[in-house]
Amino acid sequence: MKKRILTGDRPTGRLHLGHYVGSLKSRVELQDEFEEFILIADVQALTTHFEHPELIHDSIYQVAIDNLSVGLDPEKTTIIQQSMIPSIAELTMFYSMLVTVNQLSHNPTIKTEAKNYGYKEMTYGFLGYPVSQSADITFCNAHLVPVGEDQIPHIEMTRKIVRKFNDLYHTEIVEPEYKLSSVGRLCGIDGNAKMGKSLGNAIYLSDSPEEIVRKVKSGVTDTNRISVKIPGNPDVCTIYKYHQAFNAEECPNITSMCKNAQIGCVACKKLLAEKLNSILEPIREKRAYYESHIDEVKQIVSEGTKKANAIGNENIAKIKEKMHVVM
Ligand code: TRP
Repeated sequence: MKKRILTGDRPTGRLHLGHYVGSLKSRVELQDEFEEFILIADVQALTTHFEHPELIHDSIYQVAIDNLSVGLDPEKTTIIQQSMIPSIAELTMFYSMLVTVNQLSHNPTIKTEAKNYGYKEMTYGFLGYPVSQSADITFCNAHLVPVGEDQIPHIEMTRKIVRKFNDLYHTEIVEPEYKLSSVGRLCGIDGNAKMGKSLGNAIYLSDSPEEIVRKVKSGVTDTNRISVKIPGNPDVCTIYKYHQAFNAEECPNITSMCKNAQIGCVACKKLLAEKLNSILEPIREKRAYYESHIDEVKQIVSEGTKKANAIGNENIAKIKEKMHVVM
């Protein structure tokens, strides 16, 4: 039997190149070896975007298309809409008894996000989303969660909850492990450490070839290199970081040309834009297909959710029995 993998995204907008290098690419590679579940976490999206439910609803299909267009095969990978899985909601409630408010408020990812969103006070739902994420991962007994570094505290909390829960109620919920993405975070095209929609520095998988060229042109290079004639320093260049992420085979060449003032930033950006467009071309083709077959996308999410519910309903029934939550 294949081991089960679960990972997910909050549908608060389209996915960008940071998602692609950090996560989507490896999802495609993992779908043969594992039974893969991709969760579209629309309830978790509400914890920060509860005032914009319509944006979340639209983004569900955008995120599904982002996943499908990079090459996730709906025959192999199950795409799930979180809000439609009642067993996740039930499990969240049961888990919440085993987590203290103190634990949650010390979670470093919660702290960073609260700061970034400018929350003076946190809602109960936001503070508690790691508990709900624990339910996301365990409702189907996922073994492995591929994540970026910021998600590690959540997986560790999940493991803690599961151990305590299994101990208390003699259940056999799988204690999941995380699989850290081997690629570091991709910075924004403006050089900001984080690529994000709110920061206005993101390149989207759905950007047109012209948008790619425009955004790459706006990218920050070695600011000390005021003339093409003086040597550049790739170590401080954002465009070079992108070459490393997307054009690794050309990097030795680019490094030597830059350091010897044999290539200017304009030409170097042109190389990058061409490379990005060649990577994005097949992705655009698939996107165009799915965008014109939106019913098929809805069907894929609905079938995936149905499959997940069959698993979740069976598991939660067993769990409730053990907990004496029965009539
Ligand atoms: N918190 C994740 C993020 O912000 C999204 C997510 C929700 C998730 N549920 C999950 C990731 C379960 C992995 C497993 O990207």
